Amino acid sequence: MNPVLEVKKLSRYFGGLKAVSEVDLSIAPNEIVALIGPNGAGKTTFFNCITGIYEPSEGEVLLHANGTTTSLNGKKPHAITALGLARTFQNIRLFQEMTVLENVMVGFHCRTSAGIMGALLHTPAALREEQETIDQAYGLLRSVNLHNSYAAKARNLPYGAQRRLEIARALATSPAVLLLDEPAAGMNPFETRELETLVQRIREAHKLCVLLIEHDMNIVMSMSDRIYVMEYGSCIAEGTPMEIRHNPKVIKAYLGEESHA
Ligand SMILES: Nc1ncnc2c1ncn2[C@@H]1O[C@H](COP(=O)(O)OP(=O)(O)OP(=O)(O)O)[C@@H](O)[C@H]1O
Ligand SMILES: [Mg+2]
Repeated sequence: MNPVLEVKKLSRYFGGLKAVSEVDLSIAPNEIVALIGPNGAGKTTFFNCITGIYEPSEGEVLLHANGTTTSLNGKKPHAITALGLARTFQNIRLFQEMTVLENVMVGFHCRTSAGIMGALLHTPAALREEQETIDQAYGLLRSVNLHNSYAAKARNLPYGAQRRLEIARALATSPAVLLLDEPAAGMNPFETRELETLVQRIREAHKLCVLLIEHDMNIVMSMSDRIYVMEYGSCIAEGTPMEIRHNPKVIKAYLGEESHA
């Protein structure tokens, strides 16, 4: 099947450090793909390169969505979001002083059309659009089980709930690809199990594919269709959870490290 996202020989250097070195990665429609590796392996830098936060030093990022192929190289983060790539952050980036509902409404912004003047003048079209946005945002909050907290300030939510709110905000941009950077970090075991079901439900309901960075091996092994493993900036393995679990390089680089922890 043709990929939705195709990354070719992506590299990113910081001075003499090769944080990401010639990484190839692709995601097919409907796939859940995990990107794993020890701390400092280059996973977040890889995300930052494909979402426009960093410019890749070398390589190409192609998005095949809505019947067209677009190169994401050189595009700004907001333009990449509008093209269909949405993400959450390892260090949560919510609007802490805004309400839970408002945080999701911001996500819809790149898809609404009435414009700032319409909103300021309270034109009927703008009011109608605002109400639709509220309804849709509330619907997304319901899907991540945060609708009862819609009026709370984001900063007052527990950590795990903030991570789910970030997912809802990302979904508001109608992505073709959802990128999650350590979504289970800070979640308790119950929330972590719920997250797994949530991501699978999102994949079906929103017809998207997911690339997730995650250190929790239980989640990675049980929910991923395929896994890429990075070490010192390079991709050292790619395969199904079963293949990765038995790959000697991976055991040495990553799982081995875990078992000594
Ligand atoms: N802006 C930057 N300037 C200089 N070095 C950076 C920068 N961002 C990341 N690095 C370095 O690049 C390497 C990869 O970092 P990165 O954050 O991508 O790792 P990671 O795989 O996400 O690790 P973790 O699992 O701890 O989140 C590290 O050595 C890091 O110190
Ligand atoms: Mg990281």
